[in-house]
Amino acid sequence: MARGKLITIEGLDGAGKTTLALALRDALRDRGIDAQLLREPGGVRVSEQIRSLVKDPDLQIGARSEALLYAAARAQLVDEALGPLLARGVFVLLDRFVDSSLAYQGGGRELGVDRVREVNEFATGGLTPDLTFLLTIDPAIGRDRSTARASAPDRLERESDAFFDRIAHAYRELADAHPERIRTIDAGQPPEAVLHAALAAVDELL
Ligand code: TMP
Repeated sequence: MARGKLITIEGLDGAGKTTLALALRDALRDRGIDAQLLREPGGVRVSEQIRSLVKDPDLQIGARSEALLYAAARAQLVDEALGPLLARGVFVLLDRFVDSSLAYQGGGRELGVDRVREVNEFATGGLTPDLTFLLTIDPAIGRDRSTARASAPDRLERESDAFFDRIAHAYRELADAHPERIRTIDAGQPPEAVLHAALAAVDELL
């Protein structure tokens, strides 16, 4: 059986990743493709518990611990879900993956993209997405959208504007460095236009 495909969706909080992921899953299923949606951190029990930890605004977590917690959640997701699904030929849509750690912990927390990449190669065994969508949005608009949606800001949503500017910058650098894998989509467009752009890239992949 052919290996499945891994498509990841990246961007700042409030960029509309989840909306795109749901719409893409439905569009792929309409075409008869076995598509499944997972999120990070999360997707399996251990990783969902790590998600609660990293989001908890009452906890103080150092930058290196934070990077390792995300990597641990990712390692478990790869072993328990991603690897087996891809081996079964499933098309996996993943809301965030290694690029989030490179941008948030490497860039945002200033740990350095290369150091965070090394930890994540260990965590994933080198699993790389077949395609990545980077939804770009002005950090201030992203922040407004995610505050409007959430009841109370989580630990990361409480961070400074400078933190989110560094993340946006790191994402841009990643997209420039990997044009063959990362497709940038302007998330300021209506959701239908974002979906249309993403489907065109998926068609190329198929
Ligand atoms: P979200 O699933 O609602 O986007 O929340 C996940 C939060 O965790 C979000 O603020 C981005 C952050 N994050 C990282 O900092 N590093 C990572 O590797 C991942 C997957 C998420």
